Amino acid sequence: MSRVLVTGGTGTTGKALVRMLRDAGVLVRVASRNPAAGDPDSVRFDWNDPGTHGPALDGADRVFLLPPVESVDPLPQVGPFLRRAERAGIRRLVLLGSAIVLPNAPGAVEVGAQVRAQAGGVVLRASGFMQNFLRPHPLAERIRRFGEIRTAAGDGRLGWVDAHDVAASAAALLTEVSADTRSDYLITGPHAMSYPQAARIITAQTGRRVRVEPLTQDEQAAAYRAAGLPTEFAAALAAVERGIKEGHEDRVSTAVLELTGRPPRAFTEFVAGHADEWAR
Ligand SMILES: NC(=O)c1ccc[n+]([C@@H]2O[C@H](COP(=O)([O-])OP(=O)(O)OC[C@H]3O[C@@H](n4cnc5c(N)ncnc54)[C@H](OP(=O)(O)O)[C@@H]3O)[C@@H](O)[C@H]2O)c1
Repeated sequence: MSRVLVTGGTGTTGKALVRMLRDAGVLVRVASRNPAAGDPDSVRFDWNDPGTHGPALDGADRVFLLPPVESVDPLPQVGPFLRRAERAGIRRLVLLGSAIVLPNAPGAVEVGAQVRAQAGGVVLRASGFMQNFLRPHPLAERIRRFGEIRTAAGDGRLGWVDAHDVAASAAALLTEVSADTRSDYLITGPHAMSYPQAARIITAQTGRRVRVEPLTQDEQAAAYRAAGLPTEFAAALAAVERGIKEGHEDRVSTAVLELTGRPPRAFTEFVAGHADEWAR
């Protein structure tokens, strides 16, 4: 049976991917820690419970892989899963990775290397999601409540991408399994953009005044901890903001166009499509 297992299938990217695959007539199995009751196409899957991994893979021949979220070392959970997937004869495996490499996180880099080494393995290195500007992300909550973005990234730019374009890129790779693909794609939106530019676009499109308050890296880490992120992960994300400030993430690619046949959504269009999101 030809079927795609979508891990993270209830999340921002996974949910959009499931819809796109079903629209294309592809059989999908949605993995979740809390599968929909009575849905035969939903399966229990928990990275922290290896006993759920085999049954989730059973009968699948393609996998969308969303590694454990908010972890600086996904390797202990993902490594054994990859070996199991290989034994199960998975012929296409698409990893949702990140364009930004977290500091002191060699496990994430190794997961990418292991996926690339696997037959049919593809890594999508996605840039920052435009959905971070939507609730429940703390960035969005702060804009909504205080009309403010607090960041240590200064005027540094990032190739922000709509997560739906990430899902569409994954759908293209999971629908047509051809050998004629690369094993690694940088997935970005059409333009690199700084937080001050984002604030100006939201203000211009919605009338909601949004200002940017500069933070130091330490202040940024404390803000992430206060928003509930684990200490180590908060520190890593704050270091990333500094990297953005220094220009390390200022890049865009044409991968979405290459994979899906249409250009990625620009932030102005994204904001227009969510205009009520930042109302007071
Ligand atoms: N946000 C960004 O700017 C950005 C940029 C580049 C890459 N990424 C990557 O994108 C990923 C997040 O993707 P997303 O925003 O689409 O997801 P999301 O909306 O945050 O949803 C998280 C998903 O992970 C599942 N999940 C959580 N804990 C799990 C566990 N222990 N075992 C199995 N599944 C678990 C959840 O499913 P259940 O709750 O149903 O189990 C849910 O489907 C991260 O890996 C991140 O590195 C994000």
